[in-house]
Amino acid sequence: MALDIQPLDRFRDLLARARHLEATEAALMSLATVGADGWPAVREIYLQAVDDTGLVFFTHDCSRKARQLAENPRAAACFYWPALGQQVQVEGVTEPVDDATADDAWAGRSRESQLAAWASRQSRPLDSDEALTARVADYRKRFDFQRQIPRPAHWCGYRLVPERIEFWSSGWRYLHVRERYERDAHAWVIQRLEP
Ligand SMILES: Cc1cc2nc3c(=O)[nH]c(=O)nc-3n(C[C@H](O)[C@H](O)[C@H](O)COP(=O)(O)O)c2cc1C
Repeated sequence: MALDIQPLDRFRDLLARARHLEATEAALMSLATVGADGWPAVREIYLQAVDDTGLVFFTHDCSRKARQLAENPRAAACFYWPALGQQVQVEGVTEPVDDATADDAWAGRSRESQLAAWASRQSRPLDSDEALTARVADYRKRFDFQRQIPRPAHWCGYRLVPERIEFWSSGWRYLHVRERYERDAHAWVIQRLEP
């Protein structure tokens, strides 16, 4: 059955309701990636935005996830909002966001998080806490007289463009409601699934 309802609109709606009820962590998602070796990895990450084509998030380009996405752009994200009794699973293909989108998101971050992003070589072995703190101090000094800290090239964003979105709603007597949207050539196709 093809529907007019866009699953991203439905997702946005749920996210707004979750934000209303749970505030800060509503945008937290588990993001799963798989590199060329086929080894999966999952971690929590903040959803930055939902636009008309997908879910946007930011990270460091030397992180494990970025390396995996370079090898295999497919990824999956999962949200669970206990207060709503809702889970959303998103599977799709990631693409890098453009510089303007990344610059906007960067500008919205606190100065401390910007300094940490400059100093961190995310996911690389840590030599010592002192070395990391010293790097933050160096960047603090370097940008001391700059009102806006520029975005480092390694701070990058991705858009997860969904191929499949499943909405799970907690149901009475464990008869949960599952609705899977799958993209075909022309429309989203919806299928109810057994719980
Ligand atoms: C609540 C929370 C929010 C996080 N948000 C982000 C984020 O937006 N971007 C990011 O790169 N890492 C974020 N992290 C850190 C990731 O979970 C992970 O440790 C880091 O990105 C390195 O992952 P990787 O080595 O698998 O690439 C967050 C962690 C937590 C617990």
